[in-house]
Amino acid sequence: MTYKRTIVITGGAGFIGSHVVRLFVNKYPEYKIINLDKLTYAGNLANLKDIEDKPNYRFVKMDVCDFEAFYRLIQDEKVDGIIHLAAESHVDRSIKDPFTFAQTNVMGTLALLQAAKLYWESLPERYEGKRFYHISTDEVYGALSLTDPDGIESPFTTAASSEHHHAYGRDFFLETTKYNPHSPYSASKASSDHFVRAFHDTYGMRPS
Ligand SMILES: NC(=O)c1ccc[n+]([C@@H]2O[C@H](COP(=O)([O-])OP(=O)(O)OC[C@H]3O[C@@H](n4cnc5c(N)ncnc54)[C@H](O)[C@@H]3O)[C@@H](O)[C@H]2O)c1
Repeated sequence: MTYKRTIVITGGAGFIGSHVVRLFVNKYPEYKIINLDKLTYAGNLANLKDIEDKPNYRFVKMDVCDFEAFYRLIQDEKVDGIIHLAAESHVDRSIKDPFTFAQTNVMGTLALLQAAKLYWESLPERYEGKRFYHISTDEVYGALSLTDPDGIESPFTTAASSEHHHAYGRDFFLETTKYNPHSPYSASKASSDHFVRAFHDTYGMRPS
C-alpha cells in the first residue's frame, strides 16, 4: 500500500508517546506510523498491544543516538515527518546520571536533526511538506512563583473543580519566557530545544 505520509514517532513506547502513536495509527490510516524506541526501563510495548497488528503501524527498536541507522531508516521509508518524544525524562535520575541525559536528549536529538536535514535536503522538494516536531518541557523555564496559593480568583478554578483542584499561581510560561533550567534533565531538554531552533534558523528546517 502507498501511504500519503510516513511519520516516525520516537519514544512511542513511553508514557506520552504510546498515546500519540495510538492516536495517529487510528486517526490516520492513510499515514504510515513508525514507532521508534530503544525500549529502556521507561518503554513498554504492552502499552500498544491493541494496535500492533494494524497495517499502517511498524515498530523499530533503535537508539535515537544511532545516526547511521536512523539516516538509513528515513531514506528507506521516505519519512516526511518526525515527532520526537524519546528522552530520558525522570528528573531524579538526571541528578544521579547526567551523562546519559546529555547523550540521549542532546546528542540523540542532534542525530535525528542531522539525518533529517541530509535526507530532506537531498529531495527536490527539500523541506516542503516536511516537519520536525520536537517535544520539550515546561521545566526549561524553571518554576512559577506561588502568587495565589489558595487558587481563589484563578482562571483554572471553576465551581466544578474547586473542591479538587487549586491553582498555585497566576503567572504563565509563554513561548517568549526566558529559559531558566535548573536540573540536568531540564538543562538537557533546553539544549535540545536550542539545536532544533538552530536547524530552523541555519538550514531552514521547519520545526514545531
Ligand atoms: N511526562 C511528563 O510529565 C512530561 C512533561 C513535559 C514534557 N515531557 C516530555 O515528553 C516526552 C515524553 O515523556 P514521557 O513521560 O512519555 O517519557 P517516558 O520516560 O515515559 O518515555 C520515554 C520513551 O523514550 C524511550 N527512549 C529513552 N531513551 C531512548 C533512546 N536513546 N533512543 C530511543 N528511545 C529512547 C524510552 O524507551 C521510552 O519509551 C519527553 O521528551 C519528555 O521530556 C514529559
